[in-house]
Amino acid sequence: MERELTRFETLPTHIGFIMDGNGRWAKQRGLARSAGHVEGAKTFKRIADYGSRLGIRYMTFYAFSTENWKRPAQEVDKIMSLFAEYLDWILHKRQENELRGVRVRFLGDRSKLSQELIDVMDYVEAETRDKDKCTISIAINYGGRDDVLHGVRQLLRDVEAGILSADDITENDISKRLYTGDMPDPDLIVRPSGEYRLSNFLTWQSAYSELWFSDVLWPDFDEDMLDACLRDYEKRQRRFGGV
Ligand code: FPP
Repeated sequence: MERELTRFETLPTHIGFIMDGNGRWAKQRGLARSAGHVEGAKTFKRIADYGSRLGIRYMTFYAFSTENWKRPAQEVDKIMSLFAEYLDWILHKRQENELRGVRVRFLGDRSKLSQELIDVMDYVEAETRDKDKCTISIAINYGGRDDVLHGVRQLLRDVEAGILSADDITENDISKRLYTGDMPDPDLIVRPSGEYRLSNFLTWQSAYSELWFSDVLWPDFDEDMLDACLRDYEKRQRRFGGV
């Protein structure tokens, strides 16, 4: 049975999730790290589903950073195969997603991913492009600094082509060339696992984001925890530098 939805006075338009703590979750149970990622992937699907039912317009999940290639090949392969399984699942759930208006996007540098994976990613993005109720973005081979670098390269190309002049460049000219493109900046960033940092996630976009930390490990993050984040968010006053 579907969980009853909690009511909130205000909801963040965009939430970013740093899915951390999978390895520790597995270690605490004497399991291989990959078992933690399997559970983490289940949590991701559950939270994406619950968030979309609550009416959250954008959710961005940090699945694999530009630094994560330093992990053992077996672990990298496991994360990539869980990601591929998710893409497969999304395509099988197409009808349900269509009803819910879910769009799926990917943020990050695709050049290091397999061509097979890139083809499915392109397909999923094209299939869901016209959905506008909830956008689920998966950051894969993503780094906040790499995002800015990629955007700056685009900007320089546009300056060289005479589309823009250096003196006229605005913050928005940079924002719209990032992987997040026309998406609003995150209102709230949620990081479980007891670490108090952003780890190169949405570096430019998080300038005014509210931050929510917790000791819980990502595989144990659940609907009640998301409710707790949202209750907390309701109480925060966002002034964007004003008074
Ligand atoms: C961080 O925990 C988690 C990751 C680097 C991978 C996250 C991947 C998934 C949740 C599954 C695949 C993704 C999708 C979209 C299906 P950690 O391993 O650094 O944990 P630790 O800090 O406890 O070691």
